Amino acid sequence: MNQEKKPVGITETVLRDAHQSLIATRMTTEQMLPIVDKMDKIGYHSVECWGGATFDACLRFLKEDPWDRLRKLRDGFKNTKLQMLFRGQNILGYRHYADDVVEYFVQKSIANGIDIIRIFDCMNDIRNLQCAVNAAKKEGGHAQVALSYTIGDAYTLEYWTDLAKKVEDMGADSICVKDMAGLLLPYKATELITALKDTVSIPIQLHTHYTSGVASMTYLKAVEAGVDVIDTAMSPFALGTSQPATEVMVETFRGTPYDTGLSTQALAEIADYFRPLREEAIASGLLNPKVLGVDIQTLLYQVPGGMLSNMVSQLNEMHASDKYYDVLKEVPNVRKDLGEPPLVTPSSQIVGTQAMLNVVTGERYKSVTKETKAVLSGEYGQTAKPFNPEVQKKVIGDKEPITCRPADLIENELGRMEAEIAPWKQQDEDVLTYALFPQVAKEFFNYRQAQQTRVDPKVADTKNGAYPV
Ligand code: CO
Repeated sequence: MNQEKKPVGITETVLRDAHQSLIATRMTTEQMLPIVDKMDKIGYHSVECWGGATFDACLRFLKEDPWDRLRKLRDGFKNTKLQMLFRGQNILGYRHYADDVVEYFVQKSIANGIDIIRIFDCMNDIRNLQCAVNAAKKEGGHAQVALSYTIGDAYTLEYWTDLAKKVEDMGADSICVKDMAGLLLPYKATELITALKDTVSIPIQLHTHYTSGVASMTYLKAVEAGVDVIDTAMSPFALGTSQPATEVMVETFRGTPYDTGLSTQALAEIADYFRPLREEAIASGLLNPKVLGVDIQTLLYQVPGGMLSNMVSQLNEMHASDKYYDVLKEVPNVRKDLGEPPLVTPSSQIVGTQAMLNVVTGERYKSVTKETKAVLSGEYGQTAKPFNPEVQKKVIGDKEPITCRPADLIENELGRMEAEIAPWKQQDEDVLTYALFPQVAKEFFNYRQAQQTRVDPKVADTKNGAYPV
């Protein structure tokens, strides 16, 4: 047996995915900063701290500038690589953007402190990744491409190795297997990671969620099969719909060829810091103990945890909560009709909402969202399987679906956006904030202006009335 040392790297997710998964992304910058110095001394492979829902939640709920958060974290993390999650041509939003917006967003993310950009596409359509990968490399960043993991007829080992090969060929620096729903079972991980390691030579990272209860075992098998880095969360924000616990995985590999070398004592001090935040979140109801248990429905219905909670609240709003299980059963049908895409933002929302409409209206595709229409028109890219032709006909009629890279049909957008945002602009990055969440951004900019006016009467004199509401 090969006993050569092969320490596994740890990406810490407590500042991004962990609180996104457990407390609706509500951790504030103020709650993060006091522990940054200690975290910086741990020796993590990287700290994931930005992207995904953090950007939206900062603006919408916390009234914080996400760019400002990034700069503060960069100041504090002097030795540790900072990592973000990036939805390919969707950036951090829900639609396809023109290349000029994607490129500018990547440029500004790296300029403000991001080292590693994890780029994924909800269809695993390589064409939707290329622009962001090129931009990251041009700016001197590390371009990691994530394969959105899912199961289904189309998703054979061959599918994954083909995709991995294409990703390596397109110039990615590393690959992440992104298992957002916690579907990757331990022995399947052995097969998958072994096959990927045999196919590509760039490093491979694994990201999973504890939702279905198997994640620590999946990491164990993946590490034995040669995975280079795993994503974990400090124990107070681990397990449930979040990641396996950092301390547990570190101890698991101690004294083995995979020893991370991280200090459990130092990690314990960080856990001590986060524990009261967890207690606080439980007491306020922000952390619902329900999400901490094992959810076996995830394996039955292959639906990510976040999608389940969205469906519950949407059904409640429609006074149709008794239809929950009917909707759950409709999800795989809609997914098949739409070419069996992985369920990850934004495809998870598209499939979930359409399944709900199909059940609640009593007739399949009687009522369709514009996103369902867009998917069936090819506007989100190519799916692993063909669309259901009957459903496609019912939804888009005689319209010719597109087959090119969707962003090729989108004109550059930055110029127009710069003009629209001019009255509010205080920094270059504001146009990107506006590009992603126009309405929320305007509300935030107005709030920011009001705050500044309050603390600085001089600003009030000169700018009073200059900001449209
Ligand atoms: Co995740």
